[in-house]
Amino acid sequence: MKNRLIIAVDGPSGSGKSSVCRAVATQFGADYLDTGAMYRAATWYCLDQQVDLDDEDAVAVAVEELPLNISTDPEHQIICVDQTDVTEAIREPRISEAVSEVATNRKARQLLINAQRRIIDESGFIVAEGRDITTVVAPDAQVRVLLTASAEARLRRRGLQLEAASGAAETQEALRRQVLERDKKDSKASNFTEAADGVAVLDSSDLTFEETVNSLITRIDDVRQGA
Ligand code: DC
Repeated sequence: MKNRLIIAVDGPSGSGKSSVCRAVATQFGADYLDTGAMYRAATWYCLDQQVDLDDEDAVAVAVEELPLNISTDPEHQIICVDQTDVTEAIREPRISEAVSEVATNRKARQLLINAQRRIIDESGFIVAEGRDITTVVAPDAQVRVLLTASAEARLRRRGLQLEAASGAAETQEALRRQVLERDKKDSKASNFTEAADGVAVLDSSDLTFEETVNSLITRIDDVRQGA
């Protein structure tokens, strides 16, 4: 499609990229793609089909036949596997714990990257977020941003999120372990801690949510006006 606009955003878990990207896509009336949700849905399917996650070929076969349907509406994110709505189920801890097995499976990863590229190709204007969008999935995106935040800021946000979700106060130490463990697991699949050439770093550690959203909006406006 001519005049396509692709906004690629990578970053670690807890950087706030999903909420930021959804808000930005909503503001522009653009599509939104959460590639992490695709890895999560693939993991949900493997567990549902009782595929041994250590069996690389079996995982790849399952991902090849994955009947995934993911909406690109930033205001109504719905993810279905076959007829089952897994939008909430893919956020369960059992999925978060297992997902890196799928994300580090090379064949499964390539299949999901191909599916992500197809979704991006079909859109006229999309905000796509993940860990390798700026580098592998859409290195030709007009706006490429690595959204980072210090471990402390991410811990703080996660703590707030957990309290808001459950009312339970987890200890700071348990949270810290979770966040650092997660970073370690995630970085096995792709290097998202350093910005590649041409990728702008947006550090949100000391920014409010609105400030982070506005910073990304300004970058997109600059590109649109220059186009
Ligand atoms: O962003 P998230 O927590 O929903 O991502 C889920 C998992 O998928 C996480 O382990 C990182 C991985 N992932 C990836 O390897 N590449 C992407 N483009 C997106 C997510």
